[in-house]
Amino acid sequence: MTSIGFLGLGTMGRGMIANLVTAGHDVTVWNRTPGRAEDLTGVRVATTIADAVQGREVVMICLSDDAAVRQVVLGADGVASAADPGTVVIDLSTISPDLSDEEAAAFATAGVPFLDAPVFGSKGEAASGGLWVVVGGPAETLERVRPVLDVVSETVHHMGPNGSGARMKLVGNLLVAAQLHALGESLALARSAGLDLSRVLEVLAVTDFRSPIFDGVGPMVLDGDYSTSFALRLMLKDARLIQEFAAQVGAPVPGVDLAEGTIAAAVDRGYGEENASALIKVIAERAGVDLST
Ligand SMILES: NC(=O)c1ccc[n+]([C@@H]2O[C@H](COP(=O)([O-])OP(=O)(O)OC[C@H]3O[C@@H](n4cnc5c(N)ncnc54)[C@H](OP(=O)(O)O)[C@@H]3O)[C@@H](O)[C@H]2O)c1
Repeated sequence: MTSIGFLGLGTMGRGMIANLVTAGHDVTVWNRTPGRAEDLTGVRVATTIADAVQGREVVMICLSDDAAVRQVVLGADGVASAADPGTVVIDLSTISPDLSDEEAAAFATAGVPFLDAPVFGSKGEAASGGLWVVVGGPAETLERVRPVLDVVSETVHHMGPNGSGARMKLVGNLLVAAQLHALGESLALARSAGLDLSRVLEVLAVTDFRSPIFDGVGPMVLDGDYSTSFALRLMLKDARLIQEFAAQVGAPVPGVDLAEGTIAAAVDRGYGEENASALIKVIAERAGVDLST
């Protein structure tokens, strides 16, 4: 049993926490909005970041964005100043590589082992313990916490030194954005051409261009179901992180630029709290079609 402090009780954190508790770990949680801890079972609830962090063997962080991590990790009384040198801190949030590097530097100064470890997968994979984790940091630090990461994930990938996980996460999310945008375009084209969208999805599910994203999102689009696993507002954040990161390393990402524009338009229309797939509603609106069957 490992004593774990977990900060961030959002969609992803809640699923991971449930699996850590089920696996027998001693979990103490903290959240900015304390009420979100009320329906969690088997955890202790800390009222301050320091209470959640001090004396734990492992601290896991899963917050929405750079602003949240800057406040909770690097702010006064944040994790970087509260954590003991005996604790391994793991940041699972999707944030900018620059901020991830700042975190790594702050923890190095404090003598606290640190991993950036963003996750692929969504609400379902968090709930089932089937995430895919991309880790940056020293191999020996990863080995210390591998049993804990194994509880929440299907696979763990050591990408290299600190910051490599944060960078890999943006490389992967480029493909998530591209696939959702392409799915929207292909469904709108198929509908405009008079094809039966159920038959279209049947083909997408078996061909050499099939994708679990198409399998998951396609039927939901036909049902008009945009219930949230991965909020569109977070996908806009990620698209902009990819653009910034790509500009820094000098790699043009015209597909991401296009997707960012569509996502921003969807957020402007008020779809930000809906699932990331709600960007498809804008593509359909522009094509003048209704994709629901
Ligand atoms: N959902 C997915 O499918 C998915 C998949 C892979 C990766 N991710 C990434 O994982 C992270 C968490 O995603 P999620 O879907 O769990 O997000 P979420 O449901 O929106 O939860 C966000 C969490 O961050 C906290 N937070 C936001 N701003 C804060 C601030 N300024 N100070 C302190 N806490 C703050 C929220 O606290 P409150 O409760 O107080 O608002 C909440 O605990 C994000 O970086 C996301 O991009 C998500």
